Amino acid sequence: MSFDVAAVRALFPLLAQANGDAPLHYLDNGATSQIPQTVLDAVLSYETTSRANVLRGVHRLAEAATAAYAEARARMARFLNVDADEVIFTSGTTAAINLVAYAYGDLLKAGDEVVISLLEHHSNIVPWQLLRDRRGIVLKVLPVTDDGRLDLSTLDKIVTKRCRLIAVAHASNVTGAVSDVAAIVAAARAVGAKVLLDGAQRAPHGPIDVRALAVDFYALSGHKMFAPNGVGALWGRRALLDEMPPFLGGGEMIRTVTIERTIYADVPHKFEAGTPPIGQAIGLGTAAEWALGLDWPAISAHEMRLAQRLLDGLGRRIDTRILGPSGLQRRIPVVSFAVNGAHPHDVCQLLDTRGVALRGGHHCAQPLMDRFDLPGTVRASLALYNDDSDIDALLEGLDDAVRRLG
Ligand SMILES: Cc1ncc(COP(=O)(O)O)c(C=O)c1O
Repeated sequence: MSFDVAAVRALFPLLAQANGDAPLHYLDNGATSQIPQTVLDAVLSYETTSRANVLRGVHRLAEAATAAYAEARARMARFLNVDADEVIFTSGTTAAINLVAYAYGDLLKAGDEVVISLLEHHSNIVPWQLLRDRRGIVLKVLPVTDDGRLDLSTLDKIVTKRCRLIAVAHASNVTGAVSDVAAIVAAARAVGAKVLLDGAQRAPHGPIDVRALAVDFYALSGHKMFAPNGVGALWGRRALLDEMPPFLGGGEMIRTVTIERTIYADVPHKFEAGTPPIGQAIGLGTAAEWALGLDWPAISAHEMRLAQRLLDGLGRRIDTRILGPSGLQRRIPVVSFAVNGAHPHDVCQLLDTRGVALRGGHHCAQPLMDRFDLPGTVRASLALYNDDSDIDALLEGLDDAVRRLG
């Protein structure tokens, strides 16, 4: 079955927007993706027909909101192929990783080791540094290969018996490389460590069989997977979530409270203190369900064909260096590059005048930029609704930008 990109584009109202005189070529999906009408409708329906708080009221609206919120969790669970009561709504990937760093981190002691990598987003670095400073854990770092992948050649040496967790990106937000999860899980299991995957960049490219990945935690952000801002999810294994103390305290996460002590609610509520982002979670659930209904093999073929078109176009330029794998194996359609003698921000600004929305900078991955001795890169991050015209506009705009900057 071939993929009808025009039909998909038509589902996203913002994509019809022009950027001044130029049509919009939105290639900054790795930062935030656009949102389809069906998700907007779901949020609007909640806000206009059943807006109320969840898990407390007994009136009709409160019950409708509670049911919609529970359904959103069930949908998110189907997207991840996990049990619904193991899905915690958070405000995003950052909050999900901080939750694990705090609550799982509370089970660790000085000298225990956490392994991250050099290509992580800052949100999968800083929470572990905070944990290190709080509890005296040792933070170890997997290196990165010249083509921007996790270098697993020293995995056995870096992952020792003291390792309690390996926390890495499922897919890099800079190089697009998809991690070899099986090798990471095997190394972790050999020493009894857990594995957290930062799925922020992988989630917009189709449902994820987390059970098959055999990891212990999975984090993602709604706004990168066609859902509203301010919501994301953390999946964790039930036994681990039960063992972990709460992260935040407040309403919703309790069973009983006396002034002397509190008995916490069961998971997932134990980790959802306060009023959750209800409309946003309903939007995320709708986006997950919508994604589940799509033909992902056809979409992946489409996304990869576009990525190849971009890699070929950039590969023909002698002034451009691609940061990341040169091929399509184990990658998402995220392509970063540096242009000789041109700052990424200048390139992005000139391309913006032609309607091409890109991201330029360090992409919240400064250690990776240091590894490649670059101040930043230009990044094109594709989504299912991109088409040939987006890639061609980028490549033509780049010719023009280089002429003007040179
Ligand atoms: C790989 C990765 N992890 C984590 C994040 C943080 O996501 P959020 O800002 O939605 O919490 C991002 C955002 O760009 C990302 O790309």
